[in-house]
Amino acid sequence: MGVIIGCSGAKNLAKAVAKKSKLSYSDLIVEKFPDGELKVRFKSSVKGKTIIFIQSYFPAVNDKLTEMLLVAHTAKELKSKKLILMALYFPYLREDKRFEKHESISAKIIAKFHKIFDKVFIVEPHLHRFKRLRAFFPNTEKISTTKEISAYIKKNFKDFVLIGPDQESAQWVEPIADILKTKSIILKKKRLTPEKVKISNIKAEKKKVKTAIIIDDIISTGGTMLEAAKEAKKLAKQVCFIGIHGIFAKNALNKLKKIGIVVSTNSIPSAASKIDLSDAVAAAIKKLK
Ligand code: R5P
Repeated sequence: MGVIIGCSGAKNLAKAVAKKSKLSYSDLIVEKFPDGELKVRFKSSVKGKTIIFIQSYFPAVNDKLTEMLLVAHTAKELKSKKLILMALYFPYLREDKRFEKHESISAKIIAKFHKIFDKVFIVEPHLHRFKRLRAFFPNTEKISTTKEISAYIKKNFKDFVLIGPDQESAQWVEPIADILKTKSIILKKKRLTPEKVKISNIKAEKKKVKTAIIIDDIISTGGTMLEAAKEAKKLAKQVCFIGIHGIFAKNALNKLKKIGIVVSTNSIPSAASKIDLSDAVAAAIKKLK
């Protein structure tokens, strides 16, 4: 039906998805000039084919954006049939409002850049003020990780409580709680600076459960998780942090490891990537057929 192209941020996962989907796989060649400019080249002809790009926009989000613009326009010029993008981690979604006068609403602008694709699948996009991705990104669809995260928790934990560190995290935590037939606690967060947050107080329990599992879509500096852990410890003997997208900026992975178990998906591969997304991506491709 198509060919899978492994872009620079997701080659391993792209190869696994190609195998699972029984589709052919081809690498993308990305070269960098001394001034930082990029150049891309397909290894074989894309003419008449449906091209499924698999990419994670991390690290170097701006290079990855340029790479995707170059490949999409090149594939179109070379007369490919259809362009599909599977974005494992998709950036720029947090700036979905003009917070300060005269500033950019990046989420809307970056969505426009992606109009060239016939369809863009995004693994658990960060949705805050827009409740639906399609409200500003019409050619897109979400890939959920609820099933994968629930299966991981079921396999590894017994006596636990699920915690969402802030109001938006309810969209990820509550469906998991439904599958696991358990309750969840959603905390309230106030961001003081890009790296500092304040999280609401919860009442300590006399009888603690074994593990408090805190789930969020992104772990960036780890500030949110570290603050939430202070509350979670009032309810449990140990803490497990599950971040769908593990950016782990500013040594966050080591900081979190000192406090608890750290787990993420492989939307951004790291030492914490214990939840594999190749089945979820392959399932989205299957729906295209
Ligand atoms: C923001 O609203 C996201 O859902 C995450 O809570 C946030 O990106 C985490 O950032 P950090 O790890 O820097 O606290």
